[in-house]
Amino acid sequence: MSVRHLSGTTAGHRPELREKSLLDRLALDDPELNDRLRESLERVETWLLAVARDAADPRVGAVAGHLAEAGGKRLRPLLVLLGAEFGEPWRDGVTQAAVIAELVHIASLHHDDVMDGAGTRHGVPSVHARFGERAAVLAGDWLLARASQLAAQLGPEAVQLNARTAGRLVAGQLRELTGPAPGEDPVAHYFQVLAGKTAALLSMALGIGALQAGAPPATLTALTEYGELLGVAFQIADDLLDLRSPCGASGKEPGTDLLAGVPTLPVLLALEGTDPADAELRALLAAGPVPATSLRRTLDLFARSPALPETEAVLYRRLDRARTVLGALPALPARDALLALCDYVAHRTS
Ligand code: FPP
Ligand code: MG
Repeated sequence: MSVRHLSGTTAGHRPELREKSLLDRLALDDPELNDRLRESLERVETWLLAVARDAADPRVGAVAGHLAEAGGKRLRPLLVLLGAEFGEPWRDGVTQAAVIAELVHIASLHHDDVMDGAGTRHGVPSVHARFGERAAVLAGDWLLARASQLAAQLGPEAVQLNARTAGRLVAGQLRELTGPAPGEDPVAHYFQVLAGKTAALLSMALGIGALQAGAPPATLTALTEYGELLGVAFQIADDLLDLRSPCGASGKEPGTDLLAGVPTLPVLLALEGTDPADAELRALLAAGPVPATSLRRTLDLFARSPALPETEAVLYRRLDRARTVLGALPALPARDALLALCDYVAHRTS
């Protein structure tokens, strides 16, 4: 496949079409915290755009900056900033840590969209759809390298956290690719995949924020544990979105996971079910990746399947555990924000 459009600048996305940041959707009760987070997120945003813009070769910057320009929820930077609230959030290094977490995330999306064959991301063409697969993968690597450089400036603990997290992301994605080992329970395998590909980075974001702000070790531990639980819940909610999101509402194409044959939790639970009413759905799913011609039918069958409420029940249990972990933290406005995040994940629409 040839590398396309490498000579251009970034796609020039229209700012009004950018996905709303999570902070805007959370409607936090505490105005001071809200303002502080907004200002910090603006600094993160400026820095993120500058990373690609400052590339020695503007053609590299064009590919590497495509997704950052398209926007996104900025969940990971928000988690870094909230983690920092449990220490001294004004300390040097907190904003930089937030940039690192988002760069790793964007790098992973470059690779993920190639692997899933996803045509869009954040409501714009995915990086590989715009620039070709090889350029998308390499620009993802470049972003990961930039994140490593920034972590090196923060010191060995940040380097360690960043490296370990990148390793967990890749291992999680690899486990997804290889599937369960012979005899391994597919649902247990699924949760291991999620722990790597999603929970690791959410947990790291909270941890690196707390670390940079000098929060006490016990607080850091509780925050990272919460991050692991929130991360799994977040990805289960993502699985549900793939089946439910009306076209375009989430910035993703509905059924992308089904077409790619990703064994999401609703798929695994449907396959494990024994209800005769689900026999047609089971047959479609058992045959491998759903062909485009059967996608509408599969989505319709899912809408009536008990696999969806069962998946929701698993999601809500994780969120309850996450809320319990938060009980160990000081009762700061940031803790209320983390509780609000649980509600957001429970009702996620994008
Ligand atoms: C989205 O999952 C994917 C991830 C959260 C992580 C993907 C990780 C890699 C590709 C490993 C490479 C990592 C680095 C750091 C270079 P999804 O496809 O279920 O969700 P989606 O609907 O948002 O695509
Ligand atoms: Mg994907």
